[in-house]
Amino acid sequence: MLRTATIHDVPVIQAIINSHAELGKMLFKNLAQLYEDIRDFAVFEIDGRIVGCVGLTIIWADLAEVRSLAVESGYIGRGIGRQLVQWTVDEARRLGIRKLMSLTYERVFFEKLGFEVVPKESLPLKVWSDCVRCPKRDHCDEIAMVNTLLDVPIIQAAQAIPTPRGVSIPVLEYLED
Ligand SMILES: CC(C)(COP(=O)(O)OP(=O)(O)OC[C@H]1O[C@@H](n2cnc3c(N)ncnc32)[C@H](O)[C@@H]1OP(=O)(O)O)[C@@H](O)C(=O)NCCC(=O)NCCS
Repeated sequence: MLRTATIHDVPVIQAIINSHAELGKMLFKNLAQLYEDIRDFAVFEIDGRIVGCVGLTIIWADLAEVRSLAVESGYIGRGIGRQLVQWTVDEARRLGIRKLMSLTYERVFFEKLGFEVVPKESLPLKVWSDCVRCPKRDHCDEIAMVNTLLDVPIIQAAQAIPTPRGVSIPVLEYLED
């Protein structure tokens, strides 16, 4: 059964993600990150036991990122990963977001689900704001993959407009150390 996550799921989500992270397959997640982002997550449950998870993070008006996709090792190869990614597709469609992306080592898996490899440089700057915290930041070897949902209308990018008193709010703000 696939369902959206609750706060109770955080410890198990963390255990599944970090069991793969210590093998270098994905990034570690700490509890603070998971509690903060839990509304982005769905989990896959079998007989009341969580055996997989995925997160969908909105990056921009037309882009969301599939993150923290992980299936417990004993349950790999049973179609659970596919269903978790399908949840992100359904969720992106519900939100009106046309493109999904993933930074991954699992090229064949994502190709089977309609993603294609794109140059990393084609992704917006905001994608890389998280890389500041990544140990591999200067030698990132993940592949960028995108799935465009052609039935979702193209959105006109919003412009940053000054406030009534003329204050300009930057479109994007992030600090680089
Ligand atoms: C990648 C991962 C999520 C796949 O989950 P899964 O439940 O095993 O995937 P599924 O069983 O739904 O596989 C869907 C399809 O992809 C294929 N596939 C899955 N993993 C694959 C791999 N590593 N290489 C090639 N094909 C793969 C399956 O054979 C299946 O193909 P089919 O539909 O033609 O039979 C899982 O292996 C995992 O958790 N890996 C460790 C963490 C990780 O790498 N996460 C990705 C971070 S972006």
